[in-house]
Amino acid sequence: MSFRSLFFVLLSSLLSAATTAQSIEQRVDSVLRLMTLDEKIGQMNQFNGFWNATGPVPAEGNSLERYELLRKGGVGAVLNVQGVKEVRALQKIAVEQTRLGIPLLFGCDVIHGYKTLTPIPLAEAASWDLQAIETSARNAAIEATAAGINWTFAPMVDISRDPRWGRVMEGAGEDHFLGAKIATARVKGFQGTDLSAPNTLAACAKHFAGYGFVQAGRDYHHTDFSAYTLYNTILPPFKAAQEAGVATFMNAFTAYNGIPSSADSFLMRQVLKKDWAFEGMVVSDWGSIQEMMAHGYAASLQEVAELAALAGCDMDMESSAYVKHLAEAVLQKRVPEARINEAVRRILRLKFQLGLFDDPYRYCDEKREAATIGSATLHKDALDMAKKSMVLLENKGVLPLQAKDEVVLLGAIANDRTAPLGNWRVSADNGTAIPLTEGLQAYFPNLRWATGPMAWSGPEAFHAPIQVNETDTSGWAAAMQLAATSKTVVVALGEHGYQSGEGRSRSSIRLPGLQEAFLRELVQQHPRVVLVLFAGRPLIIPEDIRSKLGALLLAWQPGTHTGDAVAAVLMGQHNPSGRLPMTFPRHEGQIPMAYNDPTGGRPGPSSDVFWSQYNDLPNSPAYPFGYGLSYSKISYSKPKMQALPDGRKVLSVEITNNSARPATETVQLYVKLHANKAGIPAGKQLAGFQQLQLGPGAKQSAIFVLTAESLALFDANGRKHPAKGKVTAWIVPNSADETDSINFVLD
Ligand code: GLC
Repeated sequence: MSFRSLFFVLLSSLLSAATTAQSIEQRVDSVLRLMTLDEKIGQMNQFNGFWNATGPVPAEGNSLERYELLRKGGVGAVLNVQGVKEVRALQKIAVEQTRLGIPLLFGCDVIHGYKTLTPIPLAEAASWDLQAIETSARNAAIEATAAGINWTFAPMVDISRDPRWGRVMEGAGEDHFLGAKIATARVKGFQGTDLSAPNTLAACAKHFAGYGFVQAGRDYHHTDFSAYTLYNTILPPFKAAQEAGVATFMNAFTAYNGIPSSADSFLMRQVLKKDWAFEGMVVSDWGSIQEMMAHGYAASLQEVAELAALAGCDMDMESSAYVKHLAEAVLQKRVPEARINEAVRRILRLKFQLGLFDDPYRYCDEKREAATIGSATLHKDALDMAKKSMVLLENKGVLPLQAKDEVVLLGAIANDRTAPLGNWRVSADNGTAIPLTEGLQAYFPNLRWATGPMAWSGPEAFHAPIQVNETDTSGWAAAMQLAATSKTVVVALGEHGYQSGEGRSRSSIRLPGLQEAFLRELVQQHPRVVLVLFAGRPLIIPEDIRSKLGALLLAWQPGTHTGDAVAAVLMGQHNPSGRLPMTFPRHEGQIPMAYNDPTGGRPGPSSDVFWSQYNDLPNSPAYPFGYGLSYSKISYSKPKMQALPDGRKVLSVEITNNSARPATETVQLYVKLHANKAGIPAGKQLAGFQQLQLGPGAKQSAIFVLTAESLALFDANGRKHPAKGKVTAWIVPNSADETDSINFVLD
């Protein structure tokens, strides 16, 4: 192609992009000009699905009131409406019965799959495989949009160091560097490259900001963290999501500097909309505007409505605060209409970007719904991710199993088709997980198994607490008897998917109910026990048990493909490659803890008294961030560093797979800044990672480039300070490995 023709191609594409952008802005303006104040405020209102629109019109009460408001243009978005029929019916009312016919947004918590469930997000983070994580989100978008959803309340990007908090299952763990990379991958997966495509949906970076720092790990509890922590730990994944083009943000339930996030103009208007130039839309969390009264921040729904609107919260999820009080606030000049216009502009812009004005039924294709939901590709990728997410924490030569091995299977979860699905499963039905019994029977057709003591009973539902069995020992003796007949015992224990997630904080994070005592007796009686641990969070397995286990495989909650994925790893069909995205403590008394905590001025442990340590427990965790074993022996050469004239430092290490088995090795780069005026640096900080696919006997180099800018820290005023001075670096298999380090100076 000649230069001239290339120039015209580039010019026309620039013009069309500008035209498209201008046409969206122009089209937003053209709609805004037509809207009454009530209609504008209606766009700022989101209701939960309030009746089955394909059924009869609601007869009375709340649903009728909401139906009438919908017909008057008083609703801009709904959530938890699923299925093309339902979505089409509601969209039809908005488009055909309201004065302006503005289409609705349909939001849903598509957190780890829609109906075909991938592992919980914390498990996916353990894969450190950014492409696979993006694919997971892509598939979730494909499946959810086929059911009419055009907005997901994901990715949750909250950093947390407290596994007592049930929502750690929903995020990417304790580290902002890994969290930022994963936030980017998830946003790209959900949104694709074209929001108006019928198989992409708007993503939502949540919860802005600092929800993961709830005190004592208790959900919805008080938070108190410094601006230094805000800028250096909490915001980076949100910034990454914004740079990836995330369409929406969601407020946190919690407060920063004494201000509830739903009314925090510093976070929303200064940081997000001004400093970061975010042009998307901010939605409250469920009822979080109204909850500001319970916080004690204001005394009436009218006041919290005004505070939230003025602070930059564009849409009210389920408080009904905006539709009840904003019109009056505008008329009485307590809230400028310009603020309403700005919020509505952001909401309309998203609806144009999604193509909803061009075709409100874009996401309502019954044929696509039937062909897509549960399709083979979705299952193939979900199984692939489940295998990659599992983390081998112990192995005393017992794994991988072989088909000739004599194996029995124990544990109530072993045959459970619901518990391993995980917590956020909007549309996946109970009983749809492939259980471990089935997975292992594919290798051991005559597999004998026993449940041991029941783990839980009662309803298994998003809104219902799990009833843990603390007393009924039936099945215990029979399981011990079965174990005694076999050379190797695989035992599946852990949490139900509904023991982590929202509202599921635990003060003790050990095996629930009778499981720990059962496991303790088993390992005392049997020398070759393989524990398959199901968990939505780091769990504590006491040292006296861990030391007697033959192997420990952390399966997390793998989703639909539980049994086949676990069996594939146990049998060596997949060489375990997961690495911990969150520290596993020895004891709750150590929490909160993270690998990158600053050292303090007297870093322990020490034989002297006056150093930072416990008198009854080592400082170190049971298993550190970044840790995981494989079935291969992988070796690392000493790190090398080359200083380039422009100040960049090139660090490299050669990795060798000294085994006959292909392996995936996640090579991790950690750095320690020895002095930093911005503020106290991390004890050590992940600054890069590379996932190498190593064939049998293969060698590969991992190469990292560091600059003062790439290791910069923010001070408490949000100013960025490039790292200067001495740096120690490790290129290692996990955060606790300090086999070889290299020192250099950044200037
Ligand atoms: C919940 C959660 C939030 C979710 C929203 C809608 O309370 O905090 O993460 O997206 O409500 O379900």
